[in-house]
Amino acid sequence: MSDQQAQKQAAAKAALNYVEDGMILGVGTGSTVNCLIELLSTVKLAGAVASSQVTEDKLRALGIEIVDLNFAGTLDIYIDGADEVNEHLQLIKGGGGALTREKIVAAASNKFICMVDESKSVEMLGREFPVPIEVLPQARSYVARQLVSLGGEPVYREDFVTDYGNVILDTYDLDVSNPIELEQTLNNIVGVVCNGIFAANQADVLLKAGSNGVTTLTR
Ligand code: A5P
Repeated sequence: MSDQQAQKQAAAKAALNYVEDGMILGVGTGSTVNCLIELLSTVKLAGAVASSQVTEDKLRALGIEIVDLNFAGTLDIYIDGADEVNEHLQLIKGGGGALTREKIVAAASNKFICMVDESKSVEMLGREFPVPIEVLPQARSYVARQLVSLGGEPVYREDFVTDYGNVILDTYDLDVSNPIELEQTLNNIVGVVCNGIFAANQADVLLKAGSNGVTTLTR
């Protein structure tokens, strides 16, 4: 097993400590979340709200009841991974394309617990990982031009459609020095459904796994 995979598993194990019997748990998407899902048979959840169809299918296969967010009320916790995280617990997410549903479930939860391996930790967001932006299909070219005018280089994610039937523009070279401001600026472009900067609603707890174990950061 690679060091990175071992770190993902360690972060997921640490996240499991926050999960209690009887909870309706918000569950994210991605390979780190998959490590958590493997551990969920050890708790008796009342149900789960899934942040993607992929996660929903995995949870169902374990016999966990899927709850519609509209009937779940405010969730105690949402647990998910990230593509990049900075020292303020602001994130880039959406490498798996589930950013919109992830942002909705995170916003509807009291506490967002983010699990990462140490490779995800960065000084400044967006220098290496592009910002995924979910866009209505008809607005793709228009939004791409607006992103270019902001200094970005949008790349259309080929052969990919989100759970909501939209497309993704993975956008390089954006200046993410002020993540809260850029998140809002991107949201204001007509045709943008959601963007992968999680700064207005950043993580509340970061579980960062490294070679010396898991460190917990809170905000
Ligand atoms: C899914 O859309 C993403 O936001 C994931 O949460 C993120 O890409 C982290 O995925 P990994 O755990 O696979 O790195």
